[in-house]
Amino acid sequence: MQGESSGHDWWHIYRVWQTSLHIADREKVDSDVVQLAALLHDIGDWKFHAGDESVGPRLAREWLQSLGVEDMIVAHVCTIIANLSFKGADVKAAPLSLEGQVVQDADRLDAIGAIGIGRAFAYGGAKGREMHDPNAQPVMHTTFEQYKAARGTTINHFHEKLVLLKDRMNTSTARALAEQRHQFMLEFLEQFNAEWNING
Ligand code: ADP
Ligand code: NI
Repeated sequence: MQGESSGHDWWHIYRVWQTSLHIADREKVDSDVVQLAALLHDIGDWKFHAGDESVGPRLAREWLQSLGVEDMIVAHVCTIIANLSFKGADVKAAPLSLEGQVVQDADRLDAIGAIGIGRAFAYGGAKGREMHDPNAQPVMHTTFEQYKAARGTTINHFHEKLVLLKDRMNTSTARALAEQRHQFMLEFLEQFNAEWNING
C-alpha cells in the first residue's frame, strides 16, 4: 500500500491503526485483534480487485496462518475484515464484534473531516471520476452490488456516504470525534457550493 494514490496508502492504514488504539484504550477489547484488523483491514480491498470482496479476508488468512497465529484470532480478524466496509447508504450493515466496531469507527473517522475530504478527491481522481456535476443527483444505494457499480461524482459521494457516517459510529469515543469532523465537512460543502454558484 506504500505510495498508493487513492487514499488507501500506508498512511491511511497507519492512521486507522493509531485511531483504533485511541478508541480501544477507552473500551474493553482485545487489543491484539484490534491492531491486526486495523493493519490488515484494506488488504485486497474489493475496490481494487474487480469488486471481489473475498480477496481481502483470504489474503489476510493466508498471511496470518503463515506466521502461525492462533486459529481463533485468525478467524476473528478475518471476519472483521470481511464485514468492515461500507456497503451503501440503505444497505443493512453486518454485525461486528466490539473489536470490529472499534476498527470500523477508526476507518470511518479517516473518511470524514479534513483528511476525509482529501481522500475523497484523491479517490475520485485515481478512479477517473468527475469532481461535480450539478445535474447529477446523489443515489441512496439499496444493495451492495449497486454501490459497487456506482460511478458517481466525488461531491455526490459526500451525500451518498461521508455525511452519513457520524450517525453510524459504534462507540461514544468515535461519536465525539466524528461530530467536529462532520461539521468541518459541511462547512466545506457549503463553501464549495457558494463558489460554484457565483451568481447565486
Ligand atoms: P470502506 O471500506 O468503508 O470503503 P476505505 O478505508 O476502503 O473504507 O476507504 C473509503 C474511502 O475511499 C472513502 O472514505 C472515500 O474517501 C474513498 N471513496 C470510496 N468511494 C468513493 C467515491 N465513489 N468517490 C470518492 N471517494 C470514494
Ligand atoms: Ni480503510
